[in-house]
Amino acid sequence: MSDLRHLMSPMDFTVEELERMFDVAVDIENNMEAYSHKCDGKIMATCFYEPSTRTRLSFETAMLRLGGKVIGFADANSSSAAKGESVSDTIRVISCFADICAMRHPKEGAPMVAASKSLIPVINAGDGGHQHPTQTLTDLLTIRSLQGSLSNFTIGLCGDLKFGRTVHSLINALVRYENIKFIFISPPELRVPDYITEMLQIRGIEYKEVIKLEDVMPELDLLYMTRVQKERFFNEEDYIRLRNFYILDKAKMEKAKPTMHVLHPLPRVNEISVDVDDDERAAYFKQVQYGLYVRMALILTLLDMTDDHVNEGLLKKY
Ligand code: NCD
Repeated sequence: MSDLRHLMSPMDFTVEELERMFDVAVDIENNMEAYSHKCDGKIMATCFYEPSTRTRLSFETAMLRLGGKVIGFADANSSSAAKGESVSDTIRVISCFADICAMRHPKEGAPMVAASKSLIPVINAGDGGHQHPTQTLTDLLTIRSLQGSLSNFTIGLCGDLKFGRTVHSLINALVRYENIKFIFISPPELRVPDYITEMLQIRGIEYKEVIKLEDVMPELDLLYMTRVQKERFFNEEDYIRLRNFYILDKAKMEKAKPTMHVLHPLPRVNEISVDVDDDERAAYFKQVQYGLYVRMALILTLLDMTDDHVNEGLLKKY
């Protein structure tokens, strides 16, 4: 079990390993059928202690599309957590049933505790306001596919930069690539945490913080919108005051480059007006599709089941 691998943070994989995983994901996109029996006989457990639609269903679809099966729960109240069972005990039990586990938990670090006791690979499917590495893999693959590379662009991250775990994970992952400039767009109350700006300063990475989205629109190659994270607010009044701070609409899109893509991890509340959906620069539903391919590639990677088929396929193509 010494070579058992988990995914807690996007940094658990080197840039080269991520490239390989993304190549597998692209191969899956082009040859889905070839992967439909890769995980025959394998079982994935999805243990979700916090609400989710797309992440859980994306994991489950990924395993089903690979020919495997899924078990799990979508709500802490329907698991033994409601009786007081610890995450450590739950994962020891799940290890007896499944080959791999995806876990979402409201407490930062809970999937890490689970991984330390687990006999099977554990994937952090979101832990509190901390990290959301598979959303980051999704975002990176989407950016690579849309931009052609993961270097040389200006990305605006807009909305709840304080509580948004997808933002924290994505910034962490992007600093490993060349020549990326960050523009943080948020109300002062929802600024990106200091530990992130300090990390950028130490690494000498260019960033700026602004309040108005309109002002920076023309500079952006990518705009990553996020929802205000209602469930992490301490009081309702603050949430109500901040929830409509940004609404991306057609008028604002007119100020953007014709090549700028809009991403959003979803769910959207009202921060992107639905009339933007028809704009060909709106890439957030495509992003969901990439999320499926990359989760399939991740499952194969953690189960050590990627094989030469991909390399052969890629060699033929390039
Ligand atoms: C994100 C999350 O759970 O952090 N959603 C997702 O997994 N796609 C973003 C959010 O909830 O706002």
